[in-house]
Amino acid sequence: MWYWPRNATTTQLLEMMIVAIILVLLSTNGVESRKAKVSIESYDYSAVSCRSHSASLTDFGAVGDGTTSNTMSFQAAISHLSQFSSDGGSLLFVPPGRWLTGSFNLTSHFTLFLHKDAVLLGSQDENEWPVIEPLPSYGRGRDTEGGRFGSLIFGTNLTDVIITGDNGTIDGQGELWWKKFRSGQLNYTRPYLIELMYSDNIQISNLTLINSPSWNIHPVYSSNVIVQGVTILAPVTSPNTDGINPDSCTNTRIEDCYIVSGDDCVAVKSGWDQYGIAFGMPTKQLLIRRLTCISPFSAVIALGSEMSGGIQDVRAEDILAIGSESGVRIKTAAGRGGFVRDIYVRRMTMKTMKWAFWMTGNYGSHADSGYDPNALPEIRNVNYRDMVAENVTMAARLEGIPGDPFTGICISNVTIGLAAKPKKLQWNCTDVAGVSSGVVPQPCELLEEKTTTSSCEFPEDALPIDYVQLRTCSHPNKCD
Ligand SMILES: *[C@@H]1O[C@H](CO)[C@@H](O)[C@H](O)[C@H]1NC(C)=O
Ligand SMILES: *[C@@H]1O[C@H](CO)[C@@H](O)[C@H](O)[C@H]1NC(C)=O
Ligand SMILES: *[C@@H]1O[C@H](CO)[C@@H](O)[C@H](O)[C@H]1NC(C)=O
Ligand SMILES: *[C@@H]1O[C@H](CO)[C@@H](O)[C@H](O)[C@H]1NC(C)=O
Ligand SMILES: *[C@@H]1O[C@H](CO)[C@@H](O)[C@H](O)[C@H]1NC(C)=O
Ligand SMILES: *[C@@H]1O[C@H](CO)[C@@H](O)[C@H](O)[C@H]1NC(C)=O
Ligand SMILES: *[C@@H]1O[C@H](CO)[C@@H](O)[C@H](O)[C@H]1NC(C)=O
Ligand SMILES: *[C@@H]1O[C@H](CO)[C@@H](O)[C@H](O)[C@H]1NC(C)=O
Repeated sequence: MWYWPRNATTTQLLEMMIVAIILVLLSTNGVESRKAKVSIESYDYSAVSCRSHSASLTDFGAVGDGTTSNTMSFQAAISHLSQFSSDGGSLLFVPPGRWLTGSFNLTSHFTLFLHKDAVLLGSQDENEWPVIEPLPSYGRGRDTEGGRFGSLIFGTNLTDVIITGDNGTIDGQGELWWKKFRSGQLNYTRPYLIELMYSDNIQISNLTLINSPSWNIHPVYSSNVIVQGVTILAPVTSPNTDGINPDSCTNTRIEDCYIVSGDDCVAVKSGWDQYGIAFGMPTKQLLIRRLTCISPFSAVIALGSEMSGGIQDVRAEDILAIGSESGVRIKTAAGRGGFVRDIYVRRMTMKTMKWAFWMTGNYGSHADSGYDPNALPEIRNVNYRDMVAENVTMAARLEGIPGDPFTGICISNVTIGLAAKPKKLQWNCTDVAGVSSGVVPQPCELLEEKTTTSSCEFPEDALPIDYVQLRTCSHPNKCD
């Protein structure tokens, strides 16, 4: 460990930096010095806030052998570190190793930092997963009625929470959960990898998430959320392994992520039928950029199907979709209520897709029979521009709801190259209204062709989350 003197002069600091640089240069020269570097455990990392206190998971009796349960160690460590919430905050360092654990809860003004060779392994023992209440905006669990298993990393009613690392890994070991789900052996809904509820100022970055039992990252009823530089991998046949699900969240920024999964890469949500309508909390002010997605059986970006609290002001740009079912998909149904409006997507490149665009007004899938069939969703002002697609089977399926058309659809400057055996009907539009310009192949008549090139404008103003900057923090830091 090195200690940063509080009262060092600028010259002293400069000297120290030069020594540090020389040490780093030397350390690339051999195994011995590389070992020395690891033992220093000194890292720079990017975060919204740095911390004054830190501890290592091994200080709390953890064993990284892949078989010893460390649930108690995580809980003890975080419980200990929570005392620093109002004193500069704290960081829990997870060193190299395979750390088996069940669900544990985070605290405020807290950073969980995973070394690049640290792997968190989700326990296979259901007793390691507390059963918690269903989400009020869903009324029930997504897999089963009633409760649900708490997520591997869980937090509620927190502020200033960071989960990051030097691309360390969180492995949900989902296989057993997928099996139990498929064979109806679960009494509760499967856990997610990361869930933060009712929280503010969240950062999830520089991590690799693999084999989640179900959804991967689920911020819900939260605000000011940054998800950055996350790799999410799950077999493309695994059930419900959505990548990132902003759910009833305000001010969210998802960027530089790479996702290959068995469900939607990003699924934007806001509650289910009568429960979501009653809860009434929309997802709004959402940025998605520089996302690479492979989702053969689902969407790159899905809006819904649970959207009963509303979805508004979503801006997605610079998206690369490969071998996915659809690019942007809106999923809703009579009974959902809510709205999806002011959606903007530009610069999406699609390679090998079933459908470039898909909107479904009859998705069905109700929480229970208590929904109000007259609760119709409002889908309005959906803008797609500046896209190129290749090897596409069908350009678009746009299916609104009879008596409740989806309006203000605008598609401009989009070139869709077709697959060797494309569908005869490339645009199938019912109960939708809008305009198009410069779109190939020729859209349906319900998207009236305009010659103006300025249509479907992407908003040029910034969202508040755009202004949040990450700082460079060091671990261990000067206060340790
Ligand atoms: C995390 O990712 C960012 C860019 O996404 C990068 O600048 C940074 O160096 C990475 N590593 C750490 C440890 O923060
Ligand atoms: C974590 O929080 C949930 C929800 O508040 C609670 O049910 C659970 O008991 C907590 N777990 C621990 C170990 O405190
Ligand atoms: C968390 O916040 C929500 C919404 O403000 C509140 O209803 C709930 O009681 C809080 N839960 C806890 C454990 O403080
Ligand atoms: C993080 O690890 C994953 C999985 O090994 C890898 O695919 C990805 O490229 C890594 N990301 C960075 C930024 O090193
Ligand atoms: C699920 O519930 C049933 C009926 O209550 C019970 O017999 C069974 O043991 C439970 N299964 C698990 C895995 O807890
Ligand atoms: C049309 O979209 C392409 C990207 O697909 C972009 O390079 C080009 O500048 C766009 N044209 C206009 C007029 O915006
Ligand atoms: C086009 O898509 C088909 C699947 O629909 C795939 O088998 C084929 O390899 C793709 N061709 C190219 C050039 O990507
Ligand atoms: C077009 O979409 C409508 C509504 O979803 C459907 O009933 C019809 O079968 C589709 N037509 C073709 C040719 O796919």
